[in-house]
Amino acid sequence: MNKLIIANWKMNPDSVGRALRLARAEDKKGAVIAPPFPFLVEVGSMLRRAELGAQDAFWVPKGAYTGEVSAHQLRHLRVAYVIVGHSERRAQGESDIEVNRKVKAVLAEGLTPVLCVGEPWSVRRGGLAAAKRFVARQLRAALKGVSSRRVIVAYEPIWAIGTGRADDPAEVAVMARLIKKHGVRGVLYGGSVTARNAGVFLRERAIDGALVGAASLKSRSFQNIVDLARRTL
Ligand code: PGA
Repeated sequence: MNKLIIANWKMNPDSVGRALRLARAEDKKGAVIAPPFPFLVEVGSMLRRAELGAQDAFWVPKGAYTGEVSAHQLRHLRVAYVIVGHSERRAQGESDIEVNRKVKAVLAEGLTPVLCVGEPWSVRRGGLAAAKRFVARQLRAALKGVSSRRVIVAYEPIWAIGTGRADDPAEVAVMARLIKKHGVRGVLYGGSVTARNAGVFLRERAIDGALVGAASLKSRSFQNIVDLARRTL
């Protein structure tokens, strides 16, 4: 697959005006913009080159589920990618079973799940082999009963997210090759990706792109990361 750069804005920005300004600046080919739910419609209708992503989806198509947003509803908003099982959601109690249901629901709507996996530092401290076992277990749980060839996996070591301490690109490449044995469409890296370090990750053949948090809130940084990705096709 071509290198893909996903902007995960998380719970930012705080107004639709700011969201539209950011989206306009980041509207580039090869990018996916994943704004918070309240901005999906307006951001989606202004994007011309980038595709639209969502940060989560509920598995039941419709019904009495206060506060939830279903994959079925997202499909009607031009959403193409849905982040599933982000570690920030798992930390709030999202279980492997829920992640598996969400992956299935997103696929059933014809959208592409971006399944997040990654180990905490308590595991990685024990070495890459321990991290590989941890991630393999997460993948088995999330991909149970799923035809994985349409799934994109984002490998995001938890200790690298939002810390300024990105993982080692060579070790990420080893992990990406392991993840690819599960038959998925591609593997992205996430965790403190910046315009400065993105190049070394994107040059790895096994790494198909990046899931970018903090740096996606700075349009210049994000533009630079997308340009780097296009140059390393
Ligand atoms: P970060 O976040 O780039 O701020 O580390 C990545 C993510 O959580 O997807």
